Order: sequence, then C-alpha cells, then structure tokens
Amino acid sequence: MLEFKDVTIQYGQNVIVRKFNMKVESGEIVSIVGESGSGKTTVIRAALGLLPGDGRVSAGDILLNGQSVLSNSREEWLKLRGDKMAMIFQDSGAMINPIKKIGDQYVEYIQVHDKMDKQAAYNRAVEMLSNMRLPDPDRVMNSYAFELSGGMKQRVGIAMAMTFNPELLLADEPTSALDVTTQAQIVRQMMEINKKYHQSIICVTHNLGLAAYMSDQIIVMRNGFIVESGDRDAILNHPQNLYTKNLLSAVPTMGGERYV
Ligand SMILES: Nc1ncnc2c1ncn2[C@@H]1O[C@H](COP(=O)(O)OP(=O)(O)OP(=O)(O)O)[C@@H](O)[C@H]1O
Ligand SMILES: [Mg+2]
Repeated sequence: MLEFKDVTIQYGQNVIVRKFNMKVESGEIVSIVGESGSGKTTVIRAALGLLPGDGRVSAGDILLNGQSVLSNSREEWLKLRGDKMAMIFQDSGAMINPIKKIGDQYVEYIQVHDKMDKQAAYNRAVEMLSNMRLPDPDRVMNSYAFELSGGMKQRVGIAMAMTFNPELLLADEPTSALDVTTQAQIVRQMMEINKKYHQSIICVTHNLGLAAYMSDQIIVMRNGFIVESGDRDAILNHPQNLYTKNLLSAVPTMGGERYV
C-alpha cells in the first residue's frame, strides 16, 4: 500500500537519506531501526508530507496505493492525513490540552472529523480507550491530563490516532518515553488493534528488540542508508551486516524478557 522507491531526501543542500526503499503491504508492521541521526524521523515525515523547513524529496518516488504523492497539494495531504494515515508521537502527553478534560477533547476531535452526535462520539472514544486496555475509560474521559500517568496518556494518544481506522499508522518512537513493562504492554495492544482492524504500521524505534517483537519486516538504517532490510526472521537469525549484528547483541530486555 505504501512504497518508497530509491528515495533521496535532503534539507537544503544536505542529503540526509539516500536511495531508501521500502514496501509496506496492507496489515503489515514494518519497523525502522537505527541510531540517533540516521534519518528515521525524516523518512516517516516524508511519508506524511511533513518534512520541516527546506526538506524535500529530491529523487525517487513515494507511492500510496500505486499513486505518487510527491506532487500532492497541501489540501490533498491534509485529506490523506485525515482519511488514510495517522501519526503517533513519542510523547502524546504533550499533545493533550492540559486545561480540557480528555473526554471533551476526544469528543471534539471526533466531531471535527466525522458527523456524529455527542453521545455517539463519546461511545466511540470509550470503545477506543477500551481497545487500548485503559481501565475505567469513563474515568479517563472525565480526567485532565495531569491526573493520568505517562503510559495512560500515551494510550490515549494512540487510541485517538486509531479512531478513524486509518489504513496506515506512522509511529515515531511511540513507547520510548515509558518504562519497559509499559512499553511491552502498549506494543502488545497496538498489535492487537492491528490484527483487529488490519492497519499497516510503520514504527520507528532505536530498540531492535521491540522491532523484533512486533514487526513483519525490519529496516536497519545508518547515516541515511539502509544497511540491511528484510523479513524479521531473516534479520534476526541471519544478519548479514556487522552493524545489525552489533545492534542485536546490544538488545535490552523488555518486561523482563528478551525477545531476540
Ligand atoms: N529540519 C531540519 N533541517 C536540517 N536538517 C535536519 C532537520 N531535521 C533533521 N535534520 C538532520 O537530518 C538528520 C537525520 O535526522 P532524523 O531526525 O531523521 O534522525 P533520527 O534517525 O530520527 O534520529 P533520532 O533517533 O535521534 O530521532 C540529522 O543529521 C539531522 O541533523
Ligand atoms: Mg527521530
């Protein structure tokens, strides 16, 4: 459904990502792994049409359901980001308005996107919060952000991003601000929702263990290049590249268990 073909991305004259290739099928989870500064966020921002400043795709093509998105207008991007794609941020807590109850924000968010009465929007929000296994969703709806833990806020952010069942979810370090046990739970819930609704997910992480746990495909990046990519099992069992081997040997444990 989403394909990057030999994509080069630059900010001004600085080439940041070179010859990036990726093919994400419907319902598939792909992780992009790599050290800080390797270009992971740049890649997913390009997929969302949200490269900051003088960032641009200077070569190659990005196709969504077979159609190039590179010459999309601002309006076309806005529509895509409303209907087909959604983004999960590293720190969803920071996206939540501190002076409004979660429920009021969530209902408003739903009503901006969809013609639904208040009660229907409320019910939809509660259903999504339950999907993320938030205990007592009615209480969460009636809370302010400061009354929730970091993990709860992140669950609210993920629930909101998944509300309109986007075909493609782009998650940039969705759990890295959380402790390992909470990370493991949230990733499991994202996977459950992925199974239920068949969304494709692109997940950026610097944690190869997390990538191994959740993904069908893994892409390993370094300095703007893909050093290795392929099916999860191939990458884990037969890494070809020394850099990937080093990453594998440095995998931290998640929730007390090692997944690779
Ligand atoms: N707006 C920008 N203008 C110019 N250069 C940028 C901009 N954003 C990022 N870069 C550069 O692009 C390179 C890749 O950055 P990017 O944020 O994609 O890395 P990353 O892999 O997501 O790193 P991290 O794991 O730290 O989030 C870096 O060298 C960075 O300095
Ligand atoms: Mg980043």
